[in-house]
Amino acid sequence: MKLDRFISNRTAHSRQATRLLIASGRVHVAGCITHDPRHEVDQFVAISLDGELLQARQAHFLMLHKPVGYLSATSDPQHPTVMQLIPSPLREQLHIGGRLDRSSSGLLILTNDGLWSRRLTEPRIKLPKTYRVTTLRPISPETAERFAEGIYMTTEQLTTSPAQLQQLAPCEARLTIYEGRYHQVKRMFHAVGNQVVSLHRESMGAIVLDPALAAGEYRTLTTAEVASVDQAQTNA
Ligand code: URA
Repeated sequence: MKLDRFISNRTAHSRQATRLLIASGRVHVAGCITHDPRHEVDQFVAISLDGELLQARQAHFLMLHKPVGYLSATSDPQHPTVMQLIPSPLREQLHIGGRLDRSSSGLLILTNDGLWSRRLTEPRIKLPKTYRVTTLRPISPETAERFAEGIYMTTEQLTTSPAQLQQLAPCEARLTIYEGRYHQVKRMFHAVGNQVVSLHRESMGAIVLDPALAAGEYRTLTTAEVASVDQAQTNA
């Protein structure tokens, strides 16, 4: 819906008067003054007039501690899905912002705000994602350097953004990557002759998996956690 229509529907102002008050800078959309009456708005933005809230952001943002064995999908005939861990009717509204493989565990974000979740996953934004990885073979000394240079992915015909590897034990490391391509971490280790045995996502940007959440549990994101992703867009 256009902003001028939204304001005139919610207030006593005519469409014409609404356009004037938007042009004069009295309307904030998502915290910023908007002068354009044709600006598209939906339920995912806060809208205020003269500092008075007309609409709060009506969005859901959850973090789930995904257990191993659950599919990042809405439904599946064979395997349990992460959506089954969220009660109905909330789960019907949600989608996943950055999937994890069935064999992976850790931070999974669920929301109904598509624009917001795109910022989590879009390679252009370069939001860091940190994984705890265990490997089949000891991690070779060149691995960190190879990952920092970027790994060429033949399917996509591109090189991954420089990633940071922090070795924790011979077969254990913390890896930070800046995209979320299909099986990316597994493919990166495969490219250096190793194999991932377990993969656990610890964080996405400033959002860190809450240690109070046992596998299968979820909680609502804090306002600061939600805002950190909006901020990531601004910094891109
Ligand atoms: N990379 C993978 O290979 N798998 C995941 O689940 C996440 C990142």
